[in-house]
Amino acid sequence: MKLKITKAVFPVAGMGSRFLPATKATAKEMLPVVDKPLIQYAVEEAVAAGITDMVFITGRNKRAIEDHFDKAYELEATLEAQGKNELLRLVQSVVPKHVNCIYIRQAEPLGLGHAVLCAKPVIQDEPFAVILADDLIDGDTPIVKQMVDVFAKHQSSILGVQDVPRAHTRQYGIVSSTNLEKDIEHVHGIVEKPQPDVAPSTLAVVGRYILTPRIFHHLENIRPGAGGEIQLTDGIAELLKEEQLLAYRFNGIRYDCGSKLGYLQAQVAFGLKHEELRQDFAAYLKTVS
Ligand code: G1P
Repeated sequence: MKLKITKAVFPVAGMGSRFLPATKATAKEMLPVVDKPLIQYAVEEAVAAGITDMVFITGRNKRAIEDHFDKAYELEATLEAQGKNELLRLVQSVVPKHVNCIYIRQAEPLGLGHAVLCAKPVIQDEPFAVILADDLIDGDTPIVKQMVDVFAKHQSSILGVQDVPRAHTRQYGIVSSTNLEKDIEHVHGIVEKPQPDVAPSTLAVVGRYILTPRIFHHLENIRPGAGGEIQLTDGIAELLKEEQLLAYRFNGIRYDCGSKLGYLQAQVAFGLKHEELRQDFAAYLKTVS
């Protein structure tokens, strides 16, 4: 029987220290790109892949995320009374009716691997997606959908990857692999944030994963790794010793919205694509370049 991906995990408990003071009282995943928060882009990507259960691993200061995907009674009543029907529809369609939002608190910031492990009681024994909202990826076909299609064929764990400059390997999980077919690699090693001179390649994992539930066993048993944290990469390194692991070179442009430069680049790219803004914004950019 072929397995399907119906659940996505969104680790959103991070402190967002690179965006202080903007993130002092709110979540970095609520930072907008043009008019939508990063987390909404991530959820829309999951919905486009047929995923119906969104599991958010939250922490302190993350209540805005829960509110964002909840019904906003007062706002909706006000918009309705003012006859602002288009805005009302916009607010009501943030998350489609058939989608469930589930929130789990990660009490301590013990690392990305630990955050994913917190989702175990909800995911149980199914393969699932992990989406890091600060990697905003723009593709004609949404990236998680591309990966779900690869999963439909191969039925194994898959990492979303792209080549990065060698000087940047210390920011990523880096894989060693051999080519299997177009855009797909067979992974035989993965290491978290290696220095450029020892990195096994320049193929970096960027914020999209499909994982089999066996990952939980490894996340429960590994020791803290880089930065003293339970690293998802280290759990994956154990997983690939017993299961096939693929890396998929996705088709799309990725903006590292965990960095200020990447975030600004995303604003420009999405501003230039925005229905209402693109002409005026393009004209404005010509005057400043
Ligand atoms: C995390 C992962 C890393 C991955 C990266 C993608 O690192 O630990 O393996 O390459 O996300 O954005 P972070 O950016 O949280 O330091």
